[in-house]
Amino acid sequence: MTNLPSVCVIGAGSSGIAAAKALHERGIPFDCYEKSDRVGGNWVFANKNGMSSAYRSLHINTSRERMEYSDYPMPPSYPDFPHHSQIATYFDAYVDHFGFRDKIVFETGVKHARRGEDGVWTVELDTGETRRYDAVLVANGHHWNPRWPEPAFPGRFDGVEMHSHHYIENTDFRDKNVLVVGIGNSAMDIAVESSFVARKTFISSRRGAYILPKYMFGRPLDQIGVNSLTPHLPFAFRRMILMAMYRIGVGKVQDYGLPEPDHKLGEAHPTISADFLNRIAHGEVTWKPNVAELQGDRVKFEDGSVEPVDVIVWCTGYRVTFPFFEETFISAPDNDLPLYRRVFKPGIDNLAFIALLQPLGATMPLAEAQGRWVAAYLRGEYHLPPQAQMEAYMRRERERMFKRYVASKRHTMQVDFDNYLYELGKERGAGAARARAAGFRLPVTPRAQRLEAAAAA
Ligand SMILES: Cc1cc2nc3c(=O)[nH]c(=O)nc-3n(C[C@H](O)[C@H](O)[C@H](O)COP(=O)(O)OP(=O)(O)OC[C@H]3O[C@@H](n4cnc5c(N)ncnc54)[C@H](O)[C@@H]3O)c2cc1C
Ligand SMILES: NC(=O)c1ccc[n+]([C@@H]2O[C@H](COP(=O)([O-])OP(=O)(O)OC[C@H]3O[C@@H](n4cnc5c(N)ncnc54)[C@H](OP(=O)(O)O)[C@@H]3O)[C@@H](O)[C@H]2O)c1
Repeated sequence: MTNLPSVCVIGAGSSGIAAAKALHERGIPFDCYEKSDRVGGNWVFANKNGMSSAYRSLHINTSRERMEYSDYPMPPSYPDFPHHSQIATYFDAYVDHFGFRDKIVFETGVKHARRGEDGVWTVELDTGETRRYDAVLVANGHHWNPRWPEPAFPGRFDGVEMHSHHYIENTDFRDKNVLVVGIGNSAMDIAVESSFVARKTFISSRRGAYILPKYMFGRPLDQIGVNSLTPHLPFAFRRMILMAMYRIGVGKVQDYGLPEPDHKLGEAHPTISADFLNRIAHGEVTWKPNVAELQGDRVKFEDGSVEPVDVIVWCTGYRVTFPFFEETFISAPDNDLPLYRRVFKPGIDNLAFIALLQPLGATMPLAEAQGRWVAAYLRGEYHLPPQAQMEAYMRRERERMFKRYVASKRHTMQVDFDNYLYELGKERGAGAARARAAGFRLPVTPRAQRLEAAAAA
């Protein structure tokens, strides 16, 4: 038994293991529950948990050096954009390197988590066991619950329909007419794969997109520029530079047969593909406007055109869900769950979310920074600002985000990678001063271990 709060971590994907490692290093007692038989979540192809959206050919689209944890580089033998199998191996090695595998309870899902009036969490596992904890860290991922078009398109479709979450490989598309809906990263990869075997591949989207290349000037795009400078440069200035680079390196997407985007570069989550514009240029993918009606074995589009279609792949994104919470307690309608710096919900001092964000950049270093932040908080080395201050900050950040980004359920938790890390660093300093002034009092009182011991006695 320690005099620190005990923690339940939900999920051992790349976010859960980053948080678990921080708790482990700081001597905070915790259990990390993982539904699957291994770590890595989305990056475990055909994951036993049925939740991975990885397809056979998936490679990361954020470069290796931007994605790796700060204290555990990916092997130098890895390419800039490794395959999902290499990424899953890397996460496994991370857990073994830092030696906390024994704290992960595999093949055990959290069925229900309820916060009592005394603040102690009662966590019900799918094994039937119930455990108590002083704090809960949610790292259950937000790219596993498919969002189908809402509302559904009018009409009836008689062919094969699937969501990108269920897409595995293109073999079933051979000689078929395939329609891919959406213009995010799933749509890119799947349309490209389809275009090599299908009779025809259409991509339908309700707006245009700037398709970003993986490389520019011979370097991964996300490594160009002085990243430490980024937080000090206004977004408008950075966009101007990026726009100029895009014009020189790519040109106008209209010249490839895509519609002109209804927004400026940087106002939508980046759509990245090294191959998509080529496949359009080769005439192997044809762009269509939004679907107007499903007509049995055909699809009518908003420009009045009608095409015969055998397969529709809905690449329409994901729902953010927490099946273990009462919906009235915590939920994210339309994917929107306002949080202080995407981690804390003001008013609930012993709950934290890890990587519940959509970064311009990779997720893992952000999950790592959040894990360290939460660990410092649970040890009393960091204190949160007063609730009103957190809420005011959240209001400002949300206003800024919704103003910048195209209105869409995919733009509810956007953060700029370098800015987020820089701002969090500054806040850690301010919170450390608050903690010092308060004599390093623990913000979360440890109670659960005593309750557990009493129940076991
Ligand atoms: C096709 C695809 C490609 C992507 N490519 C990139 C990329 O290149 N770069 C990037 O930064 N991001 C990418 N992402 C975003 C992706 O979300 C992150 O890479 C990463 O997987 C997030 O990790 P996570 O741990 O938050 O979630 P997940 O990887 O989804 O892991 C969540 C874990 O929680 C477990 N879990 C869930 N519920 C419970 C429960 N109730 N009890 C116990 N365990 C539970 C699951 O079993 C799983 O292991 C991609 C997403 C998709 C869909
Ligand atoms: N290779 C990779 O690394 C890779 C591959 C796939 C996915 N990912 C990541 O996985 C995450 C999810 O990506 P995603 O592409 O699956 O989802 P997404 O980014 O949420 O994109 C969903 C797309 O579907 C469109 N859409 C949603 N509802 C629609 C409707 N009713 N009618 C028409 N269009 C609709 C959206 O359009 P609007 O913008 O108009 O809403 C958007 O174009 C992202 O973080 C992405 O970067 C990475």
